[in-house]
Amino acid sequence: MKELRIALIGHRFMGRAHSNAWNQVSRFFDPAVKPVLQVACGRDSAELAAFARRWGWQETETDWRRLLERDDIDAIDIATPTFLHAEMAIAAAEAGKHIFCEKPFANTLAEGEAMLAAAEKAGVVHYLNHNYRRCPAVLLAKKIIDDGEIGEIYHWRGAYQQSWLVDPRHPLDWKLKKSTAAAGPLWDLGSHAVDLARFLVGEFAEIDCRAKQFIPERPLAEDPSRRGPVEVECAAILSGEFQNGALASIETTRYATGRRNRHTFEIYGSQGALTWDMEDMNRLRFYSEGDSEDRRGFRDILVTEPSHDYVGAWWPPGHIIGYEHAFVHAVLDFLNACGTGGSVEPDFRDGVEGLRVLEAAATSMESGRRVAV
Ligand SMILES: NC(=O)c1ccc[n+]([C@@H]2O[C@H](COP(=O)([O-])OP(=O)(O)OC[C@H]3O[C@@H](n4cnc5c(N)ncnc54)[C@H](O)[C@@H]3O)[C@@H](O)[C@H]2O)c1
Repeated sequence: MKELRIALIGHRFMGRAHSNAWNQVSRFFDPAVKPVLQVACGRDSAELAAFARRWGWQETETDWRRLLERDDIDAIDIATPTFLHAEMAIAAAEAGKHIFCEKPFANTLAEGEAMLAAAEKAGVVHYLNHNYRRCPAVLLAKKIIDDGEIGEIYHWRGAYQQSWLVDPRHPLDWKLKKSTAAAGPLWDLGSHAVDLARFLVGEFAEIDCRAKQFIPERPLAEDPSRRGPVEVECAAILSGEFQNGALASIETTRYATGRRNRHTFEIYGSQGALTWDMEDMNRLRFYSEGDSEDRRGFRDILVTEPSHDYVGAWWPPGHIIGYEHAFVHAVLDFLNACGTGGSVEPDFRDGVEGLRVLEAAATSMESGRRVAV
């Protein structure tokens, strides 16, 4: 079987999620090419060596640029902080490597456009990891919408709420600095929420955004006795309109006390409605105006039947899947695209369209005005 030799850059949270997916995919699915965990790259060589041993990476490297000079690497997996994505992805494309890139796509729209241009010029496969698109319940929602079962969409109500910044002792890490993260939850969580909204409803036309800072200073990561300024917003609330006329509201925050990773949507249409919550990701709730009047109500679909996307390869009905499975689905589709010369969505074009929405929201956040996307 043909192989795809991978180099992963970044070995913490996403490095582990991606390594798990590259390891698992051929055990449950039959991708067109088999992934080889060739090289893991990071800056801390001791931590990296332990990581590589645990996850089965054959070699380690501390200088990511050296990966691009090697002929025995076919794809670069970028799992580093956002400000590094553009430089790494453009260099990978120029070296003719396929690219699997974490979100948020980039710090700025201009960077994102340069990434897309480089990937298209090189003719490589480019994938942007909005993993929630590959939860089977989200894919069922897409099918129900595309089949016209909820009719004309009136409302999208999205929220991505976390709570890890409620603790004032949380240090000033890269996600709280403008230079490394571009923005706060607007980029980090909003990129996912906007991607799902675009996937399920369509492109945005206009955006308003209101943001708030709750804790303006935090302990420095390198010296907790000193404090430094939080450079990004703590919460951002968007309202907007899609090109098809539906109204949107999206809440992004890391200050939702008690909400650990609550990524939800509610969609209301002329013929029905759908709701989903990441913390209960196997379930989709569907209301249909087509039901007889005396039986109407939200039905609770456990999306674990073999007829649901990806599910047949896992466990028998009712044996639920979890967070890591969407990553396995993503690497499966990426490998198939690399093996067949196809493409995989969301790609860098989606990254650019998503950044267009986020930049419009950032402009609105600063000006207090409604901004066209
Ligand atoms: N898809 C998702 O749901 C999801 C979830 C969390 C994070 N992310 C994204 O994944 C990316 C990484 O986030 P994380 O939470 O894993 O971050 P992290 O801070 O846990 O890990 C970052 C990794 O990048 C490495 N790194 C930093 N600079 C480097 C350099 N110059 N060369 C080589 N390696 C370098 C670090 O050593 C570390 O291993 C970010 O873009 C983040 O937004 C996505």
